[in-house]
Amino acid sequence: MRLSSLLTSTARWGRAGFALGALALLAGCDYNFWRMDGHQSTITVAGPVARSQLEVFYVTCWVTLVIFILVGGVLAYATLKFRAKTEAEEKAIPPEQGHGNPLIELGLIGASVLALVIIAIPTLKGIWYTYDVPEDRKADTYEITATGYQWWFKFEYPSEQIAGSGALTTGNELVIPAGRPVRVNVRAIDVIHSFWVPKLAGKVDMIPNRGNFLWLQADEPGYFWGQCAEYCGDSHAVMRFRVIALSPKDFADWVAQQTSPARNVTPKPGETAKAQFASLRTFKQNESGITDKYDVAPLEAWKAKQFPEKGENAALIAQGKALFVSKTCASCHEVRGHGAAGISGPNLTHIGARSMLAAGLIENNAEQLQRWIHDPGAVKPGNKMAKGYLDNNIKLTPENEVALVAYLQSLK
Ligand code: CUA
Repeated sequence: MRLSSLLTSTARWGRAGFALGALALLAGCDYNFWRMDGHQSTITVAGPVARSQLEVFYVTCWVTLVIFILVGGVLAYATLKFRAKTEAEEKAIPPEQGHGNPLIELGLIGASVLALVIIAIPTLKGIWYTYDVPEDRKADTYEITATGYQWWFKFEYPSEQIAGSGALTTGNELVIPAGRPVRVNVRAIDVIHSFWVPKLAGKVDMIPNRGNFLWLQADEPGYFWGQCAEYCGDSHAVMRFRVIALSPKDFADWVAQQTSPARNVTPKPGETAKAQFASLRTFKQNESGITDKYDVAPLEAWKAKQFPEKGENAALIAQGKALFVSKTCASCHEVRGHGAAGISGPNLTHIGARSMLAAGLIENNAEQLQRWIHDPGAVKPGNKMAKGYLDNNIKLTPENEVALVAYLQSLK
């Protein structure tokens, strides 16, 4: 090898090594990287459907690893063993050619068939198992309808009917009973979306005018990340949702709470709506506001959201309630029991009890909610709420925003 080419190749390997080292160092900061337990991990699973799919993945991995080692080993052996060792050998072109070896050829065909059969058995088993809830679990199945919108998810509970209002409806947070099979009927209202909760089950497309379904089950109570997995426009990447699995008792409590009308907070005589300007702030343009604060104990944080916030100002909330109708929020959003019956946006009857806003994008707290109301388009590009503001020339003063935030946060 010439010195110059030796140097370039050394430099190249050095750079690759450095890049690898840097990657390892970066990854070292993130424990989850090595555990492969990110929010949307398909390696750390929490239910039987995802587990069955993971098994197929591992079988395929092992089979291909064996093939890689065998083929790579034979190739390496042949390369080293049969390379030209003398100048005379190097010049002897072409080398002696081999002709057909039935034993090797049949052997290779047999080995390939065997590899495919090994992969096919768990694959077929997995396809049948994950297609629908197994017969013996059917009676215990809980049904939910999930509908994809640009860019959020609507969840309906056909078995929880509310007099005069229809099925219980929520947005972006799918609460399910843990330990029970859940059959999710997937629908879409505008374009094709895809329903995916990586730790619980594989993805299924939500196609307009075509009903489809999947089933999933969470082994234990937990808080799981979901994601639209089919490109659907501007905010596809941030079209997220959460799945909250609860124990039977907690789930029953949640249903009872959700099927009741929106919470009313009555001002005491003489109470005034001193706008809480402490919470006022200016948001930088393109400030992301995306938080992962729920990493520590997301389920506990979610449970804490089910109770009224401390320091509520009932008069301010009443102001916000009036603004919700006068600023036409009510024409797109429903707040059951408060005279708001819009259906094109998410149902907000119990918005204050959700952990996230804007389809799982930002944390649901007073600051982020104000940021969202102030300029929805800056938080989630292309969304319909931003358009609604522009089309209807809706202007909100900072005081309006604070009152609306107080009202929405009170809806537990
Ligand atoms: Cu909805 Cu991508």
